[in-house]
Amino acid sequence: MQFPPFGQPPFPLVLPGRSVIQMPVSKLFRLGVLGSGQGSNFVAIAEGIASGQVPAEVALVLSDVEASGILAQARSRGLPASYLPPGKFRTKLDEEAEKSLVAQLQAAQVDLVVLAGFMRVLKNDFLRAFEGRIVNIHPSLLPCFPGLQAWKQALDYGVKVTGCTVHFVDAGIDSGAIIGQQTVPVLDHDTPETLHQRIHAAEHELYPRCVAALARGDIAIHGRRVVWRPAV
Ligand code: GRF
Repeated sequence: MQFPPFGQPPFPLVLPGRSVIQMPVSKLFRLGVLGSGQGSNFVAIAEGIASGQVPAEVALVLSDVEASGILAQARSRGLPASYLPPGKFRTKLDEEAEKSLVAQLQAAQVDLVVLAGFMRVLKNDFLRAFEGRIVNIHPSLLPCFPGLQAWKQALDYGVKVTGCTVHFVDAGIDSGAIIGQQTVPVLDHDTPETLHQRIHAAEHELYPRCVAALARGDIAIHGRRVVWRPAV
């Protein structure tokens, strides 16, 4: 099978009838990070950047929670970080908030939008503006256990292996093409908390690795299949 060439986002996604949006080329690969919580995945990526493992820079961190750890973590590193008032809804941004989100990310010239525990569903205008350039991390081996508390779903179901998944974001819930996965065994004495903790630790390895591959242009995508350039 012929895959399109490797390269940085926006990838030549096979979406009939849709045009690929070209963004300005910046020297370093620029990340826009969105989160609602403690921001441990953001910290893992920021540390990957600091250590040279991730060839990128954080252009902007935005959160819908004013007192979130992710904003505090970004500010403590001297990175641009802002609160995004979410508007009147509980599970999504209202129209005005979504417009502001798109405008801020575009003004910051981000190459990739990195969702790191962002707890609101993102809708069409945002998805269209950053088509093929939004990634998320989910605490299960998708397509198993999409949605909330995936570690608890896995434990309750009785699987022996679970893990985490980095995937492109599309209009569905945790349904976009899979970029990378890391397994975590489920132990007999696990509680939801202990399992969640080990999945979190796996996320901190997987997410920087995937973002680094995207930044290096080591990923090609064909439909749902994402292939990594073989290491030399
Ligand atoms: C992670 O468990 C991730 O899988 C999910 O949200 C959580 C974010 O954690 N999408 P943190 O804020 O990065 O610590």
